[in-house]
Amino acid sequence: MRIGHLEAFGPVCPACRLRGDGEQSIVLEAIYAERDGHVLQGMLRCPNLACQREFPILDGIPLLLAQIRDQISGQVLGLMMREDLHPDLESLVGDCCGPGSEFDTVRRHLSHYAVDHWGEYDPDPWEGSGAIARLGALAYDLAPPLPGGLAIDLGCSVGRNSFELAAATGGLVVGLDLNLSMLRLAGQVLRSGRVSYPRRRVGVAFDRRDHAVPVPQAEQVDFWACDAAALPFRDGGLQTITSFNLIDCLPDPFAHLQSLGRVLAPEGLTLLATPYDWAPSATTIQGWIGGHSQRGEDRGDPVERMRRLLQPEVTGLRLQAERPRVPWEVRSYSRSRTLYEAHLLAARACAPDAPAP
Ligand SMILES: C[S@@+](CC[C@H](N)C(=O)[O-])C[C@H]1O[C@@H](n2cnc3c(N)ncnc32)[C@H](O)[C@@H]1O
Ligand SMILES: [Zn+2]
Repeated sequence: MRIGHLEAFGPVCPACRLRGDGEQSIVLEAIYAERDGHVLQGMLRCPNLACQREFPILDGIPLLLAQIRDQISGQVLGLMMREDLHPDLESLVGDCCGPGSEFDTVRRHLSHYAVDHWGEYDPDPWEGSGAIARLGALAYDLAPPLPGGLAIDLGCSVGRNSFELAAATGGLVVGLDLNLSMLRLAGQVLRSGRVSYPRRRVGVAFDRRDHAVPVPQAEQVDFWACDAAALPFRDGGLQTITSFNLIDCLPDPFAHLQSLGRVLAPEGLTLLATPYDWAPSATTIQGWIGGHSQRGEDRGDPVERMRRLLQPEVTGLRLQAERPRVPWEVRSYSRSRTLYEAHLLAARACAPDAPAP
């Protein structure tokens, strides 16, 4: 965590905010380990005497989470997993844990997104895709000019778009995600300019890849663990938000759109991408934007529904531009990829008392 980002973004306690108990700015209470301008281990605290929540900083990632116990106990492997094992030992642990184990799930997620985000810089570019950077480039062209000022990249995963967003806006960026193993990888890239991850070959066979990646905007970027459904930011304080391929992972997509409208400054910009790949494990059908109720006027078309939601009186957002189909590819293993076509949208936040005509 960079202290400059903490001061500039001034996060508030997500637990107090959820309870409606005021907006308390989180304070840095202790630094246990620090290197090259990054707090690697430390403690943040809510100053509200009725709350006093502690938010640890682990491996450079502050965990600004209301449900801190659930998140740490549920992701302890992602938090403690080591990257220094000899490949033979790492593969033996993988074989013993087997397919479907937590170890396997963590490695698969790292593989999917690290290849997509950073694989194009692999000196052995076997299947590196860089798909998220291509999607980002189309998004940043959608509604120029991008505002300067503070920006967040929601659902940042292993971090590539957070660096692209920093280049596009010229301002400070925080990449936010709930997945601690992916955030640790993003933090490693930020601090070292190198990526090290298990790339899935087939089954539970993975090859460890370790190579340099260019991060010229590193000074502008930080990574925090936050829940997109409980953002620790004051209303109206942010200028730009990217939410790429996140909304169909959330329990309440409509609330997500509303919260974007709230935390953006008037005329602040949000860039959204989604393939509407709804899964009941993430979102119950009542929450889906399209993909059901095909008897209706829009025949269950998510593109039409999303357009109707991006109106000032509905979400506080006004649709500015869109591209209904842009490619976004995720590699599963060496013989399988999924090619999605994401809906790309740019929307501006409206002042609460003055909806645009
Ligand atoms: C489908 S991936 C997309 C990752 C990246 N934006 C991209 O397009 O490559 C969804 C990401 O959202 C994160 N995520 C899911 N639920 C979240 C939540 N409630 N708050 C923050 N991040 C979340 C996941 O951990 C994952 O990294
Ligand atoms: Zn609090």
